[in-house]
Amino acid sequence: NGKKSLFSGMQATGTLHLGNYLGALKNWLEFEDEYECFYCVVDMHSITVRQDPAELRKKARNLLTLYIAAGLDPVKNCLYYQSHVSAHAELAWILNCFTYMGELNRMTQYKDKAAKHAQNINAGLFTYPVLMAADILLFQSDIVPVGEDQKQHLELTRDIAERFNKIYGDVFTIPEPYIKKTGARIMSLQEPTKKMSKSDENPNASIFLLDDTDTIIRKFKRAVTDSGNEIRYSEDKPGISNLIEIYSIAAGKSIEETEKEFEGKGYGEFKLAVGEAVAQMLKPIQERFAELSKDKEYIDSIIKNNAEKAEYFANKTLRKVQKKIGF
Ligand code: ADP
Ligand code: NA
Repeated sequence: NGKKSLFSGMQATGTLHLGNYLGALKNWLEFEDEYECFYCVVDMHSITVRQDPAELRKKARNLLTLYIAAGLDPVKNCLYYQSHVSAHAELAWILNCFTYMGELNRMTQYKDKAAKHAQNINAGLFTYPVLMAADILLFQSDIVPVGEDQKQHLELTRDIAERFNKIYGDVFTIPEPYIKKTGARIMSLQEPTKKMSKSDENPNASIFLLDDTDTIIRKFKRAVTDSGNEIRYSEDKPGISNLIEIYSIAAGKSIEETEKEFEGKGYGEFKLAVGEAVAQMLKPIQERFAELSKDKEYIDSIIKNNAEKAEYFANKTLRKVQKKIGF
């Protein structure tokens, strides 16, 4: 129908944290009128590290429920599981044959994950970016709204698509990353030079979307800040700058307005305000999540209907690709 389209997704591992929300999920809400939107629970990506089956099933469902709780309308947006649409795996195999080992070797996320999971460096972990390329290209995505850590994977996706198009003609839309200026890289509250991440072992390092108000406030109170006492954003003060960024998004203010609001006030007072603003931002999401979780049939029907819709779009691209390569 000529409408532009977009794809994004999250892993079904761990619990969503504030970085996932501010860097990605929150931004997804602005596209539903202009784009055909596909938001996936990427459970096939999740098994690149070992998962407990019952836990994975539960987390995948919670993630899809959180998408809706965060405000995504499941009629206007296609919310589905990657494993329910086999075209992801089929296109990924084909694209594997158009991707070089050297390219995958350069992926920094692979290097990080391989170091972290040294006893299980499987081939899936290595070819993860190819599956991600398939995810995006299947839907002829014009843009891909993600956090900054996904930039390198997006560049590879573009390279693979351009390589394929060069041989076979215009098969794939070349996607653009959509990365917001603020929120694209939320840092750990305990080590503000590291990004906030699901796999952080320190429970105080991350705010999880389902943390209660007291927990959120306590974690912000304990957040590591830099020497000094001014509420001022600066590159060489990552601790306070991270908090300023979080506050400004949660309170709907600019960085400058935030600095002004807390002029002459101390870190303690500011940290409390950050905690309160974040708790207030997350509260309606948590309430909706609790409500939605009770309605098993509703969630089941969304999972089923949306998988069919995603499959219809994905298969159109897959058939085109298959024909081009001689299947
Ligand atoms: P994680 O990196 O926590 O395992 P995913 O790989 O599932 O999460 O990423 C889901 C989305 O969240 C991606 O768009 C990613 O870029 C974004 N994201 C992850 N961590 C952060 C962060 N600390 N700040 C901003 N965005 C992030
Ligand atoms: Na498109």
